[in-house]
Amino acid sequence: MKILVTGVKGQLGHDVVYELTKRRHEAIGVDIEEMDITDPAAVEKIITDIQPDAVIHCAAWTAVDAAEDHVDTVRLVNATGTENIACICKALDIKMMYISTDYVFSGDGTNFWEPDDLNRQPLNVYGQTKYEGEIAIENLLEKYFIVRIAWVFGVNGKNFIKTMLSLGKNHDQITVVNDQIGSPTYTYDLARLLVDMIETDKYGRYHATNEGLCSWYEFACEIFRQAAAMGHSEYDAQHLSVLPVSSDNYPSKAKRPSNSRMSKEKLTQNGFERLPSWQDALSRYLKEIEF
Ligand SMILES: NC(=O)c1ccc[n+]([C@@H]2O[C@H](COP(=O)([O-])OP(=O)(O)OC[C@H]3O[C@@H](n4cnc5c(N)ncnc54)[C@H](OP(=O)(O)O)[C@@H]3O)[C@@H](O)[C@H]2O)c1
Repeated sequence: MKILVTGVKGQLGHDVVYELTKRRHEAIGVDIEEMDITDPAAVEKIITDIQPDAVIHCAAWTAVDAAEDHVDTVRLVNATGTENIACICKALDIKMMYISTDYVFSGDGTNFWEPDDLNRQPLNVYGQTKYEGEIAIENLLEKYFIVRIAWVFGVNGKNFIKTMLSLGKNHDQITVVNDQIGSPTYTYDLARLLVDMIETDKYGRYHATNEGLCSWYEFACEIFRQAAAMGHSEYDAQHLSVLPVSSDNYPSKAKRPSNSRMSKEKLTQNGFERLPSWQDALSRYLKEIEF
């Protein structure tokens, strides 16, 4: 297949192009320089010229706190940009995969969110605009995948793991929130699943994260435990203590959902292989990066 990937300079887009190429698909990665998704004429020209069989749309405004101060720009990228791509996919009658987020949900309660739960009530600007992107796709297309992911980490970009490793190196004590529960997603593992999916016509909404649940605090503790076990003694319990705090003690601009438990049963029901545990993903990731 010939597949256009947006956001190739980001964490996920980078790994999706790598996976497509590894599996002998023709992958064309673009980022804002080649195709600014907020420019409908550019989107039309690039996609029409390339004539792909599918678009995997990874580009987005992903700075969650900064989004609160830039509502119009964030909406232009995440909602209108997605709609621009969907319009061309419709005109060319090609598949579109849109990468979305757990932040489309309110985070109330402790139940697992189902992919087809239509009760989407985002708490922040980023989540609201990603939700509007979902609506644009659902209204325009039939051949679509909406894949919600969460707590993303990849080699190519900034993420929670890199932030923790950097903080842990320079502090003897750090505090991490312990009342938001979810599942991390390793882009290398996710890319394999996304390519499996785009090769099929099993369209619809899905959730796709690594297996297992944790809080950000538990995630941080495991990062430091594994890093110390790899010989990085600056992260061991003698050198670094990690304290759990509630979100109330850790004010941020954007409100975050406390419950990001995402049901992935639909993957199994449709014959897709799920991702390994997040601890396993973390251990492979730590071997890939320098710290
Ligand atoms: N990161 C997470 O924790 C997380 C969680 C849930 C869902 N997601 C979703 O997963 C997808 C991939 O996330 P990621 O972490 O790989 O994102 P990322 O690393 O921030 O990459 C996004 C890419 O999109 C580009 N982009 C921004 N505005 C654009 C525009 N107008 N036209 C074209 N490209 C543009 C960015 O360029 P610049 O860097 O120059 O802006 C960047 O290269 C996104 O759809 C995101 O919403 C992410």
